[in-house]
Amino acid sequence: MMTLRLGIVGCGNIAANHAIALAQTPGAVVVGCCDSNLARAQEFAAAHNIPHAVATTDELFALGLNAVTVCTPHPVHEEVVVAAASAGLHVLCEKPIAVDLAAADRMIAAADTAGVTFGVLFQRRFWPAAQRIRAAIDDGRIGQPILGEVTVQLFRETEYYSADAWRGSWLTDGGGVLMTQAVHQIDLLQWFLGEPVSVSGFIATQKFGAHIETEDSAVATVRFASGAIASINASTVSNLNLGNRVSVTGTSGAVASLTEFPEGNEAVNDVWTVEGETEFTQVYNAHTRANIPLSQINGQLTPFHTLQIQDFVSAIKEGREPAVTGRDARASLAIIAAVYESARTGTVIALTPSPAPLAESSISA
Ligand SMILES: NC(=O)c1ccc[n+]([C@@H]2O[C@H](COP(=O)([O-])OP(=O)(O)OC[C@H]3O[C@@H](n4cnc5c(N)ncnc54)[C@H](O)[C@@H]3O)[C@@H](O)[C@H]2O)c1
Repeated sequence: MMTLRLGIVGCGNIAANHAIALAQTPGAVVVGCCDSNLARAQEFAAAHNIPHAVATTDELFALGLNAVTVCTPHPVHEEVVVAAASAGLHVLCEKPIAVDLAAADRMIAAADTAGVTFGVLFQRRFWPAAQRIRAAIDDGRIGQPILGEVTVQLFRETEYYSADAWRGSWLTDGGGVLMTQAVHQIDLLQWFLGEPVSVSGFIATQKFGAHIETEDSAVATVRFASGAIASINASTVSNLNLGNRVSVTGTSGAVASLTEFPEGNEAVNDVWTVEGETEFTQVYNAHTRANIPLSQINGQLTPFHTLQIQDFVSAIKEGREPAVTGRDARASLAIIAAVYESARTGTVIALTPSPAPLAESSISA
């Protein structure tokens, strides 16, 4: 089977996960990397044995690629994804898909028009603990999911926000803890509970106000088309870092939840009260080092980047949808954008569904 030639765009923190994952992906080779900071691209290429380092996507695409993975800051996802799709390249973009729904819709439309595979990276879906909850819902073992809960209690140093100029500004980051961190758990929540239809919420900048304008804390409620309801409680001000938790309760009364602690560590199903399968797993203990560096958090997630990147490469080869499509990724952004709007207006926000794929739109037109 043909070997896919890939490029990586954006050679910062998370790009190493992509290079390591692609090196472990059969039938794929990274031929170039690109960063607007050329020195960073060159250093990255040397560290990961990548033949070409360039400063622009035009130069990267000229290397004769089949696909790119996109690791630029969120507000720069759209321009790279649209340029790649328009050049006929398959694209796997880091989360969140974009920072506003109009941009997400333009990205999805560009991929549809070009007929390329478009995926968005939510590697936590590949945790066995997440797959187990999804399977328990599919098998009917918890009944219909009726209640969900997301808790994100992370710790970030002030330096996290000051080290990268783009972080913490509405213009260059697009949001705070919801957009950057909790988006992973919000993605899991909607994967488990289905289509979100209305959202309300509050946001606040409680601790890092001297350094950022986006939120470091948020609470929200979500109603889903099925009638299920959920709460979200997220912050980066918790010290110690208590990680993340996503919990689902079904009509059977069963609770299936996962906890990621320390942050970046593979989650476990800490509470599992499915009939006949009850398990409780203790995740917190005083001996675990909770506040770990970002590089370690990201490093622990590499095996799951690898699973999603391998799925993306297989999806291209098999002509099927990847595990997480652009449309799937739009749902978590829709919830987050609605929390921001609700916080701004003091109202409950009704969500509009994702635009239909091209084929369906043309049939109904
Ligand atoms: N899946 C995960 O667990 C995970 C973890 C961390 C970050 N991320 C996501 O990855 C993305 C990047 O985050 P990061 O922490 O690596 O950021 P970063 O700032 O460390 O790296 C971004 C890089 O993109 C480069 N860049 C900016 N604009 C560019 C352009 N037009 N063309 C080429 N290069 C450009 C910058 O110079 C920088 O080197 C973000 O969207 C973030 O949310 C995902």
